[in-house]
Amino acid sequence: MSFLEVSNLKVEFDTADGVVSAVNNVNFSLDEGKVLAIVGESGSGKSQTVFAMTGLLDHNGRASGSVKFEGDEILNIPNDALNRIRAKKIAMIFQDPMTSLNPYVRVSEQMAEVLVHHKGISKSDAINQSIVMLDAVKIPEAKSRIKMYPHEFSGGMRQRVMIAMSLLCHPKLLIADEPTTALDVTVQAQIMHLMSEIQKEFGMSIILITHDLGVVAGNSDDMLVMYGGEVMELGKTEHLYANPTHPYTQGLMSAVPRLDDINEKLITIPGSPPNMMLKPIGCPFSPRCKFANDKCLSDIPVLTKVGENNQYRACHVAIESIL
Ligand SMILES: Nc1ncnc2c1ncn2[C@@H]1O[C@H](COP(=O)(O)OP(=O)(O)OP(=O)(O)O)[C@@H](O)[C@H]1O
Ligand SMILES: [Mg+2]
Repeated sequence: MSFLEVSNLKVEFDTADGVVSAVNNVNFSLDEGKVLAIVGESGSGKSQTVFAMTGLLDHNGRASGSVKFEGDEILNIPNDALNRIRAKKIAMIFQDPMTSLNPYVRVSEQMAEVLVHHKGISKSDAINQSIVMLDAVKIPEAKSRIKMYPHEFSGGMRQRVMIAMSLLCHPKLLIADEPTTALDVTVQAQIMHLMSEIQKEFGMSIILITHDLGVVAGNSDDMLVMYGGEVMELGKTEHLYANPTHPYTQGLMSAVPRLDDINEKLITIPGSPPNMMLKPIGCPFSPRCKFANDKCLSDIPVLTKVGENNQYRACHVAIESIL
């Protein structure tokens, strides 16, 4: 039994123009203490995948399939049951800390409330534990800063506050949806470093969503590449980096700026992500894929194992012709 097992996850939205299929047949598993990165361009279904898992889809959305967390089904279970799991075992942090922090309430109050509510401890104990957590995320002078309002912190510090808040109940799974996208590159690197330290210290599992492949290397064990709501490639991060076998993954890799060659022009993948209302019948990436053949235009490829390294790809094109 895996710690987290997602099978045939589908997400659909009802809209005025018809049904949008945002996530289609996503399968993956995650072991305890491991980091899975979900990567893909904007609109590829990364956020909706984790929103479905945690019951946070918009009202016009619905999910099907299965999400087993520590052996128990959590997809579409009643709200109160899900709330209990979300509070204590699964924490989420988002791109914009202000979606989780109330700007008008002191950080001390917001953090303490979480502990008083979920752990039933006294407020003074809760504040002390919150200070310890702010220390852990390396907020200087945590004892006095905890009295500040969120808007008094810089963007990077605010993200640290949010990480500290998400860790208060010692979750087993942390889902971080673009946690560093809004920050400048140096702060981004600091936050990623902090998350990886905390992950080791607390021994939790992380799902890290990003469209920035640069942060994936060195910060994740496994990697899931999504496009048009489908999984394109899945495997160990080091293997996918060394040996991407899907044209889309290859395109993403070549779009990563290389620090050792500042004169190199940034290569981008020609074309734009699909309109989810008008998705191609076959492989969603086929309109932008230079290797696409007739089968790619008519059949959705299924995820199939390649090689001996537990790497999987969903592609009709023979590997030999794209490597
Ligand atoms: N409430 C909704 N109604 C209709 N379609 C929706 C709704 N919410 C999301 N979608 C669609 O679902 C698709 C996947 O969105 P998702 O938020 O998962 O993208 P993403 O990969 O997280 O992108 P980004 O990197 O921009 O955050 C998008 O095409 C989006 O338009
Ligand atoms: Mg998103």
